Amino acid sequence: MMDAIVHGQNRSRRLEKRDGYVALAPAAAAICYPFLLNAFHAIVGTQAASLPPVAIACAVSVLVVAFVVPFLGIALACRPTSDPGSRRLAYASVVSPTLYVFLGVVQALIKSPIPDEVIWCAIWLAIAKWSQSARGPAESAEPVVGGWRVVHGVTAVVLSLYVVFHLANHLFGLKGPDAHAAVMKIGRVVYRSAVGEPLLVATMLFQIGTGLLLAWRWSASAHDFQRTYQVASGAYLSVFILGHMNSVFVYARSFLGIPTDWNFAIGAPTGLIHDAWNIRLLPHYALGVFFVLSHLASGLRVVLIAHGVDQRTAGRLWGVCIAISAVVASAIIAGMSGIRIGAFAS
Ligand code: HEM
Repeated sequence: MMDAIVHGQNRSRRLEKRDGYVALAPAAAAICYPFLLNAFHAIVGTQAASLPPVAIACAVSVLVVAFVVPFLGIALACRPTSDPGSRRLAYASVVSPTLYVFLGVVQALIKSPIPDEVIWCAIWLAIAKWSQSARGPAESAEPVVGGWRVVHGVTAVVLSLYVVFHLANHLFGLKGPDAHAAVMKIGRVVYRSAVGEPLLVATMLFQIGTGLLLAWRWSASAHDFQRTYQVASGAYLSVFILGHMNSVFVYARSFLGIPTDWNFAIGAPTGLIHDAWNIRLLPHYALGVFFVLSHLASGLRVVLIAHGVDQRTAGRLWGVCIAISAVVASAIIAGMSGIRIGAFAS
């Protein structure tokens, strides 16, 4: 009898310990993130010379592992047993690719002599420590989000007009920088006008505010995969849009005084792939496009279900949208990395 009790206690202590390690896995993965990018750069180097197939395979594998970091965060945020602190740590790790760009730009702005990797590790150790102190019992499944959900959805519809134009503009990069610039010139008449630009920025900031509020409330408890995905992609977008606007308005236009054109976007002259700093832009942009489109799809799924469409049909449509988001993100990144439509035509 006594043996059985001691055995049971040992087992639950072992499980608790294992749970503790799993809870901290997102922070460990996030800490590895910049080193994976450094490893990628060490393999591909600064010259666009042709690499042996083994080197290409190694570089691609390392980059794939870097892309796994945010998706591991989503998977761990889904865990039904985890407490709010650990779950929020998992959600936080999803934003790693875009937070690392944000950090790099801030470091450049303040001319910091400390390497980005050092600050990065310190940030994640602090977040991990906070997540442990914020551990507690799971909260009720349906958070009180009130009308914020509706407001967030309505603003999203308005903002999606800009997003669709902006991403279509980037797809023209597959045709070449001139085509990209020509389309951007047309769009700028509206979104960089005296009324359009402040309105766009204010609406984006409002969307970030309402999004973060919703994400905080939903992240207090565990949800199914699709809800978790919606919260995680929204969290990524909040940091992405803030960082992106900081890069465009503060860093490029004010600090460097350079035009925010194609060359700025692709990190010319070295480009995205062969520059030690710019490589961080690749996952940041790819996931920015992927998450913005699939986040809109997540919203559409919720609206459809609320209007009587059955879960299976709404889920299937969501899956199709996810696939389209991945194709669009890959096409934009291909264009930004130098691939051109028609380049292979005879
Ligand atoms: C591959 C992905 C992306 C790239 C390379 C990119 C690049 C750029 C560039 C170069 C500008 C300056 C435009 C100009 O000067 O006219 C810009 C502006 C902006 N982008 Fe993006 N972007 C991307 C994705 C996104 C996404 C997904 C969003 C929103 C969710 C977004 C939101 C914005 C906003 C709000 C501005 C400021 C517009 C203004 O000038 O008023 N971007 N982006």
